[in-house]
Amino acid sequence: MTDLLRADDNGIRRAGALLQAGRLVAMPTETVYGLAARFDDAAAVQAVFDAKQRPAHDPLIVHISPSLVGRDVVEGLVDLGLVDPLAPAQAQAVRSLAAAFWPGPLTLVLPRGPRVSDAVTSGLAEVAVRMPAHRDAQALLDAARHPLVAPSANRFGRLSPTTAQAVLDELDGRIDAVLDGGPCPVGVESTVLRVRADGSTERLRPGAVSDRDIAGCLGAPPEAPPPRGDAPSPSPGQLPSHYAPATPVFVGEAGAIPEGLHRVATLAWQDADWWASQVAAEGPRVLASAALSEQGDPAVAARALFSTLRTLDEAHADCIVVEPPPEGDGLLDALRDRLARAAAPRG
Ligand code: TXA
Ligand code: MG
Repeated sequence: MTDLLRADDNGIRRAGALLQAGRLVAMPTETVYGLAARFDDAAAVQAVFDAKQRPAHDPLIVHISPSLVGRDVVEGLVDLGLVDPLAPAQAQAVRSLAAAFWPGPLTLVLPRGPRVSDAVTSGLAEVAVRMPAHRDAQALLDAARHPLVAPSANRFGRLSPTTAQAVLDELDGRIDAVLDGGPCPVGVESTVLRVRADGSTERLRPGAVSDRDIAGCLGAPPEAPPPRGDAPSPSPGQLPSHYAPATPVFVGEAGAIPEGLHRVATLAWQDADWWASQVAAEGPRVLASAALSEQGDPAVAARALFSTLRTLDEAHADCIVVEPPPEGDGLLDALRDRLARAAAPRG
């Protein structure tokens, strides 16, 4: 039985007590809902993998709050045992990035500290750390009084949840509680950025914090991962097929839709009716249609992405035919990345 808790003082106190006791609570963040557990409790961390049916080779992000790290982020992360002492250029880059983007949708991959177990990092020498901006997530971290691991609160390989109801659709009965903080304001997962010893960076996952934002902060953009399909994935767990609804997804021009699709749902970038008519002109019957943002606003589209895919999934069509979002940095890159993963062949 999973309790649905309101994010008021009582709900946060109750959720914090559950977490302290080693239980699992889904929490709202500005990106997506995360499935939280104490980072230092081996049984709780294992329970996160079990609830999500997540393979052990996919490492978790450790979440912290401003009050848990204190005044200097680098010292705070080292004192908590999350991160090893950093090289000077690395520490400087982390301070600059944290000053610009924390709390917020940026995850930093740093040398792993002594209190982080192999289970959290999948045995890697680095750990991913993020300070969420969501008020309820910060209140919950403070109530739990410990850093919390929190992967997206979905079963493995499926769409990230952006509402408490979507968490229940994924994990009802498998976790102790969901803290309902309303819909997530960003809607796609955080940017993941490795900070190297020389202070240079490498982007492992696109998100709301763009390459331009990072260049503006550090003076140089991050190295981008190799193009999809080439080379092994740069970040473990960044499997090609991910973020998928049950219905197959096709992203591309209406003229290129695969043969044999009779009943489809359509997802436009801006104009739902226009895209549905383009697709229908190729033959299939359109059972349901939607658009990501009528104004073509990437922030609106990101907020809508996962919930709209969930809704279209319910049409039980042969396929969801998606008009590709325009190319671009930051959220546009993140939207194209998540849609490409939803459309990738499933293993
Ligand atoms: O916005 C977010 O990041 C959300 C919210 C809940 O904070 N969390 C999230 O977690 O998206 P998850 O587990 O679904 O995705 C975390 C990804 C992993 O799949 C992996 O690609 C990367 O972060 N990651 C985690 N630890 C890493 C490490 N040590 N080295 C490289 N990449 C890592
Ligand atoms: Mg995830």
